Amino acid sequence: MSNFIESLVPDNIRTLKAYKPGKPVEALVKELGISEAIKVASNENPLGASRLAVGAAEEELKKLHIYPDGDSPHLKEALSLHLKVSPEELVFGAGSDELIDLIVRTFCKPGKDQILTHKYAFISYGLSAQAHNVKFAETAFDDSFQFDLDALLEAVTPNTRIVFLANPNNPTGQHVRRPKFEHLLSGLPKDIILVCDEAYYEYANGRPGMEYPDSTTYRTAVGSPLLITLRTFSKIYGLAGLRVGYAIADSGIIDYINRVRRPFNINRVAQAAAAASLADSTHVEKSRSAAQSGASTMVKALTSLGLKAYPSLTNFTLVDLGKPADPVYRMLLDRGIVVRPLGPWGLPEHLRISVGTPKDIDTVIATISEVLKS
Ligand SMILES: Cc1ncc(COP(=O)(O)O)c(C=O)c1O
Repeated sequence: MSNFIESLVPDNIRTLKAYKPGKPVEALVKELGISEAIKVASNENPLGASRLAVGAAEEELKKLHIYPDGDSPHLKEALSLHLKVSPEELVFGAGSDELIDLIVRTFCKPGKDQILTHKYAFISYGLSAQAHNVKFAETAFDDSFQFDLDALLEAVTPNTRIVFLANPNNPTGQHVRRPKFEHLLSGLPKDIILVCDEAYYEYANGRPGMEYPDSTTYRTAVGSPLLITLRTFSKIYGLAGLRVGYAIADSGIIDYINRVRRPFNINRVAQAAAAASLADSTHVEKSRSAAQSGASTMVKALTSLGLKAYPSLTNFTLVDLGKPADPVYRMLLDRGIVVRPLGPWGLPEHLRISVGTPKDIDTVIATISEVLKS
């Protein structure tokens, strides 16, 4: 029977490997029979969501029997005021993950067009390409995980339709600085869509001396209509469980994405909570400063254990163990700690560790130290 089903499935789907997210805390607690576990595997906000968002979500629970307005009008208006862009330049997805998929579906011809990114890029780009039978190419990174944007430009072919660039990148945490970003923008052929995935924008933007480029400022200033910026409410806004991301782009691009988007992709609780969270700048500021000090504590502590930890502008740290990371990942799991092993990215000696609460950071570091000695 399974051979029969297999024979019905196109090659690109048969060979697709399902995305494996970080193990949920609930699953680990149940498995180990412990009362609590620490998950630092999915770059979530340890402070949770804003109280305003939780209040708005609770209020919306009274209307669960009514379909949402699929255009997310209230959220769109709030975000358009927040970002100072027109509502026609915004579209929402069930996480920016859904938008990655929608962009591939909207703009790529299966079997013909190519998506281009670099090695160790966010894993969804390759998965979406394969799911839609779109060719996928990656350019090299150097040993210190610095972006080689010239290699990216050289790899462009007449079939390249979309270039994906996560800035900062997950899982390496590195970011492209303004001069290099401008070099990429000016070097890309004008018929290629550049998707700037800024899931960690609120952590990175405005950090002194980091020259972080806010891609939205280039779309209007440089007149690049094919620039799409992706952002999310999953990270600094702490709404990962509700699934809301958005794209900012030329209204012509947004119009086509809207034709492909499912009509009720953002549920009403998510719309209400996301809109309310925009009003809580104090929560965003607190989350940003907690992530910055937590990340710096983690990098220092991991370095003092003799490991190579990479500083970043995000709420996570890449760490090179200099030996296979999977056994360490498993020993941490046995002790109730979930980190992210990077074998699926082709980095078998690396872990990605999100910034948790100060108490979680202490526990994670002490446990890594113990496990490395065992
Ligand atoms: C670079 C990057 N892009 C996109 C996403 C997807 O985020 P979400 O679908 O929760 O908005 C993530 C999540 O970790 C990410 O790191």
